[in-house]
Amino acid sequence: MNESEEKKKGKPKGERGSFSGKLGYVLAVAGSAVGLGNIWRFPYLAAKYGGGMFLLVYLLLILTFGYALIMAETTLGRMTGKSPVGAFTAFGRTPAFYIGGWINSIVPMIIVPYYCVIGGWVIKYFVEYIKGSTQAVADDSYFTNFTGQAGSVELWFIVFTAMVTIAILAGVKHGVELASKVMMPVLVVLAIFVAVYSMTRPGALEGVKYFFIPNFKNFSVMTVVAAMGQMFFSLSIAMGILYTYGSYTGKDVDLEKSAKQIEIFDTGIAVLAGLMIIPAVFAFSGGAMETLQAGPSLMFITIPKVFAAMGTGRIIGILFFMLVMFAALTSAISIMEAGVATFVDQTGKSRIFCTMLMLLITLVLGSLSAFGFNILGSITIFGMSFLDFFDFLSNSVLMPIAALATCILILRAVGLGRLAAEVEISSEFKRKKLFNFVIKYIAPAFLIVILISSVLSVLGIIKM
Ligand code: PFF
Repeated sequence: MNESEEKKKGKPKGERGSFSGKLGYVLAVAGSAVGLGNIWRFPYLAAKYGGGMFLLVYLLLILTFGYALIMAETTLGRMTGKSPVGAFTAFGRTPAFYIGGWINSIVPMIIVPYYCVIGGWVIKYFVEYIKGSTQAVADDSYFTNFTGQAGSVELWFIVFTAMVTIAILAGVKHGVELASKVMMPVLVVLAIFVAVYSMTRPGALEGVKYFFIPNFKNFSVMTVVAAMGQMFFSLSIAMGILYTYGSYTGKDVDLEKSAKQIEIFDTGIAVLAGLMIIPAVFAFSGGAMETLQAGPSLMFITIPKVFAAMGTGRIIGILFFMLVMFAALTSAISIMEAGVATFVDQTGKSRIFCTMLMLLITLVLGSLSAFGFNILGSITIFGMSFLDFFDFLSNSVLMPIAALATCILILRAVGLGRLAAEVEISSEFKRKKLFNFVIKYIAPAFLIVILISSVLSVLGIIKM
């Protein structure tokens, strides 16, 4: 393909990758979106922050904000052919635009490390199921014992990180697309099976009710803060990823339709994961408040109990953790890829060099998170462990700022009209009115409120 043809297809040249057509794009974005956020993070937040109330707030946010931000980011990425810093500064080289771009780009650099720590936990459980420890891992103290051992947590973190790095070096197409195409459908089938098993255990119905029926008593500001952070995390928005993916996309891809497909798929998997885990908390731990509040460890405590109760638990355990591992890998690859793309664009250095730079950041910050469960366990930041702190900093502070920056970029520099024109190159822009309304009014106001309340609550100034 010569250069003008490349331009027409909207594919950037040089060291940056590109997707092989429409399906490749949707699958790769779905591969990025569906990951630990859906299977590990969503259920523990829903359990902790109000069950059905959390679900309701989450769905409302997805349909308004989530939709608008996916559209905004992918469109800006495709329009400029750049990852965030390049996309922002394409509209003006002012300090404000640099900051806006960099905030989007820094988020992945904070998420990748702790994401890889959790990825390591998943591999550890996968290996334990292969070894046949089905009953041992279902024990209440198993998880705490494991994370209490610094060497073990660090080892599995490094294994996961190495896998991600190798996939990145092997290139965008092969690394991301292939894994998504094969693994996603199998994951869906298995998740349905496990969810049905879990929901049909005695006592599990209470959990289904807790998860689906909103109870206003369970509403708090934290429900909204957590649901908002989760929406960013799960849809891979407000962290530069979709700019980067948009920049790999051809002008023939219907951006609105893809956004819809990704939202439905991503939310479907999250709800399924909720149905695997929350009813099981009621069936196997009597719906104990402390288990519902378990946080990051919830999946690792609850799911093994479900498998231990099955006759075929070992096989299911192997399969489940293998698929979750792949979902986590495709996501981790896309987060790291975003960091690498930023470095390539900004420094002009080789892909290998930039990948090594990301690797270094990952190893340093990830080790802090890994050691936060053991040798650094006595250190807390604003009362949080390292992992919780990095999670809070990225999801509740930096992502709202990044999303706000995107809104400001559109309103001040790009213009809603030009953005719509880019969308309309490939398709009709059906929800343009909703999009404009959210970007113009709802998003900025809401983001500022969320940001201020989460910071004030961490500083202990307000209680949520
Ligand atoms: N959205 C992914 C998930 O739900 O697991 C995680 C993720 C992917 C987060 C890409 C951040 C990211 F940049």
